[in-house]
Amino acid sequence: MKQNNSKAEPCVMVIFGATGDLTKRKLLPAIYNLAKDGYLPEKFAIVGVGRQELERDEFRNEALGHLKEFAGKGLDKKTLNWLHDRLYYTGGDFGEDKQLFGDLKALLNELCEKRGIPENYFYYMALPPDLFAVVAGKVVDNGLGREEQGHWRRFIFEKPFGHDLRSAKKLNADLLKILKERQIYRIDHYLGKETVQNILVFRFGNGMFEPIWNRNYVDHVQITVAETLGVELRGKYYDTAGALRDMVPNHIFQLVTLTAMEPPVSFNADEVRDEQAKVLEAIKPFDKKSFESDVVRGQYGKGVVDGKDVAAYKTEPDVSNFSKTETFVALKLSIDNWRWADVPFYIRTGKRMAEKHTSIIVQFKQPPFVMFRGTPVERLRSNYIDIHIQPDEGITLHFGAKIPGPVMKLGVVDMDFNYVEHFGEQMSTGYERLLFDCITGDATLFQRADMVEAGWETVSPILKHWNDSSDNLTRYPSGSWGPKAADELLERDGRRWRNPQHNQK
Ligand code: BG6
Repeated sequence: MKQNNSKAEPCVMVIFGATGDLTKRKLLPAIYNLAKDGYLPEKFAIVGVGRQELERDEFRNEALGHLKEFAGKGLDKKTLNWLHDRLYYTGGDFGEDKQLFGDLKALLNELCEKRGIPENYFYYMALPPDLFAVVAGKVVDNGLGREEQGHWRRFIFEKPFGHDLRSAKKLNADLLKILKERQIYRIDHYLGKETVQNILVFRFGNGMFEPIWNRNYVDHVQITVAETLGVELRGKYYDTAGALRDMVPNHIFQLVTLTAMEPPVSFNADEVRDEQAKVLEAIKPFDKKSFESDVVRGQYGKGVVDGKDVAAYKTEPDVSNFSKTETFVALKLSIDNWRWADVPFYIRTGKRMAEKHTSIIVQFKQPPFVMFRGTPVERLRSNYIDIHIQPDEGITLHFGAKIPGPVMKLGVVDMDFNYVEHFGEQMSTGYERLLFDCITGDATLFQRADMVEAGWETVSPILKHWNDSSDNLTRYPSGSWGPKAADELLERDGRRWRNPQHNQK
């Protein structure tokens, strides 16, 4: 992993899907932030490619409008002008339009010549996954994909990367027929989050945590990714995907692997990813018994979120009234290796939950009570480390302390590190780091083909089991912490989820 001081070489970013939501909300603001902080080279341009037929000026004006809406307050005029001058556009149908890729080639040639940019291109595929291989194929067929004469060509693919193990394998195989693995950047925006990257620094940049980060001291790990949002206007995609596909093999498994991996010998992309891949390979496959005992799925009903009445999933736009799609999933994972044998990793994610809250809790074993026998202390609580990823980024250590007074009483106190308090507010979409890494050719924070496939390998049998069985979905009211069955998953093991309001106990 480079340290963000690598020099970004002159290049052109081509965004396929330039008039879509991701470009508006994330990509343009991220590019703006990079430009403002001086990370982009002077010789840089962006070519938007979209279905709409727009003139260059129309695209530039729309882009500036989106920046005003999504890039935060107090935009810097100089940066806006800098970007405005570097935006280009070409429109057409990605699948059908034969002219489109010829036009793109002509535009790239022309602007590179005019601006003195060497032909280094990176393509951002902000597209539905069924177009990934088609569009990449056309880029290559038009002579814009091969790395020749010292020029680099990189391709960023958005998630979802496949729909199950079979489709992910096929997609990887199709792409590898036309591209080299080193040209492929499979993005997972969770790896762009500061606190997620900080897991590695916390574990391996400090001497005091790693010695206790194993089965001798850790009781269990719990990872929660709770959202208050519902399915919004994404019903068409979400109703065929569901919470498991949407969140688990990608975002949640990134959190699992960073928490559980062995120290890599260096921060080189392949060494970090080798260690992550080993964790995924060590996840014990689900079987007939564990489908029943270690997997919970739920769907939100109506309820109240943030003080507002909200509708049930089944009545959301573009969702079938009979939908059996899960909007919540909880799993108990076993990582069968030397470090983590018998330490369960409980994970859960859901929409329309009580709070937006993403955290990793590492719960330590209880110390022996022996010293407190004969004192008023009734029981000892276990220590835990709470790595909170959003909305408040930081790390909290919870431990016991003596309550002042003549008798021996223990209370729980915490030591808190908060990113914003310490480092100040950073304007970040989470995509800045990832785009910059792609420009500088650092793939550490991107998924490799084997990691994507290993993720699907774990979840595909669950999907198949759900498909084949008549299991009823459990329901949970919007605004809750998910179905009761998810609480029971931990209660059976004598544990409980640490929801934010419980954290102090
Ligand atoms: C996306 C999922 O990848 O991640 C969405 O498709 C989800 O369904 C989103 O809402 C969550 O991202 P974040 O950064 O808000 O936690």
